[in-house]
Amino acid sequence: MILGTSPASAAFVVFARSARCAAANTCLVRDVSRRTVEPRSNEVTEPTLYERIGGEAAITATVGMFYDRIMSDESLSHFFDDLDMDKQINKQIAFMTMAFGGPHDYTGTDMRAAHARLISRGLAVEHFSAIADHLEATLVALSVPPELVGEVLTIVGSTKSEVLNE
Ligand code: HEM
Repeated sequence: MILGTSPASAAFVVFARSARCAAANTCLVRDVSRRTVEPRSNEVTEPTLYERIGGEAAITATVGMFYDRIMSDESLSHFFDDLDMDKQINKQIAFMTMAFGGPHDYTGTDMRAAHARLISRGLAVEHFSAIADHLEATLVALSVPPELVGEVLTIVGSTKSEVLNE
């Protein structure tokens, strides 16, 4: 007979454990209750939009292609004439990472202040719509599923009144 499988030896194991628990001032009940109260970090959380869309690689690809489209659109490119576009792309990557729930330490300007000087240069709702259309076309070109495209456009669309200083 293999040691530990007979009722007698099983009883011995339980007894030995009880004795050890008693000696160590612990017991099975306390062990179990300790195990069932898991730390909050073990809780299952819903993946963020940032994660579902594909994380850093996807955001970087999206923003790069997005600004290529914007700079090829004469109705929009003049707004960006005097900018360092590498910096602008990095700011937009940081903003979208934050807005989509990714890991961030966004320190950029708020949307109202960032676009205030553009209002005097004619920034209006048609430009906002054109930017949103370019973002949608970029996401579609990158084969992002339609429901995620919708979520992105809802978040970006929610900045409208700030961007247009309404
Ligand atoms: C659709 C929603 C928009 C979002 C989420 C957005 C996001 C941003 C962000 C994150 C910045 C950088 C802020 C910083 O300096 O820290 C920025 C700056 C800028 N955005 Fe937008 N933007 C939007 C719409 C537009 C539109 C419609 C235009 C013009 C067609 C535009 C043109 C610019 C320009 C030119 C800057 C640079 C401003 C400066 O440095 O003086 N943006 N935007």
